[in-house]
Amino acid sequence: MNTRESQKKMAAEAAVEHVQTDQVIGIGSGSTIEYFIQILKERIKLEGLKIVAVPTSYQSMLSLIKNEIPLTTLNEQPELDLAVDGADEIDSKLNLIKGGGGALTQEKIVDSAAKKFIVIADESKLVNKLGEKMPIPIEVIPLSFKTVLKKLKRYNAICTLRTAVKKMGPVITDNGNFIIDAQITDIKDPKQLELEINGIPGVVENGLFVEMADIAYIGTPQGVRKII
Ligand code: A5P
Repeated sequence: MNTRESQKKMAAEAAVEHVQTDQVIGIGSGSTIEYFIQILKERIKLEGLKIVAVPTSYQSMLSLIKNEIPLTTLNEQPELDLAVDGADEIDSKLNLIKGGGGALTQEKIVDSAAKKFIVIADESKLVNKLGEKMPIPIEVIPLSFKTVLKKLKRYNAICTLRTAVKKMGPVITDNGNFIIDAQITDIKDPKQLELEINGIPGVVENGLFVEMADIAYIGTPQGVRKII
């Protein structure tokens, strides 16, 4: 396993320690969460933990099914004990950019329904300022694509429509929408920007997750770093 993968795994191991029997757990999306699911499966097998999980994407739903972890929905369990998710950027205040995998909308709904939200990542995800490395993913209703682009001009955003790899044309999210990746380099007030982007008609959700995370476990060459 290379360094980055082992960092993801150690972060996932630290987060799994928070899981207790009889809990309802929100399960994020991405490659780091795959480690979390594998380790959780082992704990369920060894300790007989009884948990139910709410996935944040088709990816995590299919992985939970494959690993025989019981599923539920937010409509059955609207309050979660814990949510664990990856991130694309993490600043020192635990504000995040998410949505590199296109699952931002369901992730924000599930993560915000949890009493405790834990982020897990390798150290490449740490940034001094949000927007440093990653554009902000914005999920939009397809018919609003061009009107949203026009409104984003006020932020001097460099925008691209996310294109699918094994399909022609745009990525279609799990909710049937498009994703605009908006590169905004000088984000002065992430909370304000998160609210403003969501105020544009046609925007379903954006990938700024501000003041949401409680703990981050970051895998580093020196071990796991906990940020609270
Ligand atoms: C999914 O849309 C994203 O928010 C992921 O949670 C994020 O990209 C982390 O993915 P990795 O764990 O694969 O880096």
